[in-house]
Amino acid sequence: MTTSLDREIATYRAANPKSAELHQKAARFMPGGDTRNSIYWDPFPLYVTDGTGTVLTDVDDNKRTDFVNNMTTLILGHRPPEVTSALRQQIDHGLSFPAPTPLVVRWAELMCDRVPSLDKVRFVNTGTEATLNAIRAARAFTGKQKLVKCEGAYHGNHDAIQISVVPPLDQAGDGDSPESIAAFPGISENAVDDIFIAPYNDIEAAEKIIRKHADELAAVIVEPVNGQCGMVPAKPEFLEGLRRVTDELGIILIFDEVIAFRIAYGGAQEYYGVTPDLTCFGKVVGGGMPVGAFGGRDDIMTMWDPSNGGATVQHAGTFNGNPMTAAAGVATLEALTRDKYEYLERLGDLLRSELQALFTELEVPMGVTGVASLFALQFTSQEVTNYRTYATNDKTMMQTMFIGLLNEGFLMSNRCAGNVSTAHTEDDVHAFVSAVRRVLKRAEST
Ligand SMILES: Cc1ncc(COP(=O)(O)O)c(C=O)c1O
Repeated sequence: MTTSLDREIATYRAANPKSAELHQKAARFMPGGDTRNSIYWDPFPLYVTDGTGTVLTDVDDNKRTDFVNNMTTLILGHRPPEVTSALRQQIDHGLSFPAPTPLVVRWAELMCDRVPSLDKVRFVNTGTEATLNAIRAARAFTGKQKLVKCEGAYHGNHDAIQISVVPPLDQAGDGDSPESIAAFPGISENAVDDIFIAPYNDIEAAEKIIRKHADELAAVIVEPVNGQCGMVPAKPEFLEGLRRVTDELGIILIFDEVIAFRIAYGGAQEYYGVTPDLTCFGKVVGGGMPVGAFGGRDDIMTMWDPSNGGATVQHAGTFNGNPMTAAAGVATLEALTRDKYEYLERLGDLLRSELQALFTELEVPMGVTGVASLFALQFTSQEVTNYRTYATNDKTMMQTMFIGLLNEGFLMSNRCAGNVSTAHTEDDVHAFVSAVRRVLKRAEST
């Protein structure tokens, strides 16, 4: 029997022959033609030639409205003039130097001025390096090894944290005290032993786990908005509770704001009014260039201070704080005034409420999660608050919607998460919701 997914895929293949051809060539040189799993999808990804504002153009000259913005990075849309002109100016002066620049000082100042917990900051090149270094800092500072992270949270691609990201439910144990499960083969067994897994948004269960292992815990790391499970915001009492218990027990609280920094001028910690000890950043803060950053309390960050006889913790990196990323980062942060966040939140609220109204009208078992500029479609009648409820999503319907929206001229992430940029308008939102309606109607009629 031909399913609605089969039909959407057939339409997709017919509309994207050059991408299909390029993908065959790509597969000769890269495994599966891919070098970044999170942007791969079956039957083949689209090969993009241009991004302008909200519009992506591919090799078949198809244009689509982009609601991915390179996984939440491009908060001003593609190629905003402030950022491209800053990059052009920097190109005329040099791409990277074996020395700091005035730009990196301005960049650090902008970060520390707007993020409540940031006494000091260091720049790296990925969010992965940001969480790696924050975890290392917590271990060095406390002299302890173990960590707590939430089930279903992604914090980057390094061993310490590639645990229980999308664990198979038949191995994941009890929802109140989930098992630690390596995300894939090749992860150090020590890393698995060094981490305890807590359910997201369940402070009672999380607190039990933290108290049980308090003597060995260096840090609790948490995303104030869980990206992996569909932009699921933390309940305020969850973050407040983590702060209370970690303060009481002398455990470092790390916020991973690689995505969540997007939700307010001062990041998620300003939004929630909860102050972590260390924070990890990425994406937005580099204005579209490769980036990561981590920072926080002075007494912890001082471990990296190389003056006065040398740093306690070493941290090099050929491209840390490089002037191209710094130029894009400074231009982006300077453009991101408080009124921009108000606009993004209004647009996000409109999108979520229109989608919810659509699902109610059509009586489909779907929902929408998100906060501020972040959103995701959920293909389940359950309220999604954590990994276990997220796991009830109908994966086939999710894939049908994803490919269907590509056919309608809209790009979401392949798990149907999205975000708005300042380049999007209310018209984009209405058009998107109409496209979701058409995909659902097509699915209904198959
Ligand atoms: C919450 C979170 N932390 C860390 C990372 C890792 O960032 P990067 O891909 O820049 O290494 C990501 C990437 O998506 C993320 O979403």
